[in-house]
Amino acid sequence: MNDLILKEPEIFNNEKENKAFNENSNDLIKKIEGDILYVDPPYNKRQYSSNYHLLETVAKYDNPTLKGVTGLRENDKKSDYCKKNSVLKSFEDLISNAQFKHILVSYSTEGLMEVNDIEVVLKKYGKDYKMYEIEYRRFKSRETKSDDDLKELIFYIRKDM
Ligand SMILES: C[S@@+](CC[C@H](N)C(=O)[O-])C[C@H]1O[C@@H](n2cnc3c(N)ncnc32)[C@H](O)[C@@H]1O
Repeated sequence: MNDLILKEPEIFNNEKENKAFNENSNDLIKKIEGDILYVDPPYNKRQYSSNYHLLETVAKYDNPTLKGVTGLRENDKKSDYCKKNSVLKSFEDLISNAQFKHILVSYSTEGLMEVNDIEVVLKKYGKDYKMYEIEYRRFKSRETKSDDDLKELIFYIRKDM
């Protein structure tokens, strides 16, 4: 195995007061407000926290009990956004509780939520609904399926508060 090299990220001072939260979005949304909310939720069943297990272990430095041939951590943070039967409910809960004037959401046409369902939720809680399509290539180069229908979507609504 190769050595793991950690490089210090480049951090610049934007002269503003910035805050970062490490919390479930649906709990956090009830405690914050602002002008612009950008939401970039997971769009498929892959649970991110499993994929980032190495970084998580570096950050926690907690010598976890590893499982499986690839040595994953026990994953106790399963996102509702990665489950077909809970994603839409969580998304609606997030949007309904958002105290933000402008809301932007990025999603994929291959996502667990249907585009029409996203539209219904956003129109229910906001005005000036817009959807922008951005074409992009599938990240797996060996994928045989056509990329023609694959798009990144950006949704917008203005919320009256
Ligand atoms: C598509 S990624 C967004 C990545 C980020 N915008 C970026 O460009 O680096 C989705 C992220 O949402 C996180 N996530 C999933 N469910 C969440 C939840 N309920 N609350 C907070 N974060 C969540 C995942 O762990 C993942 O890091």
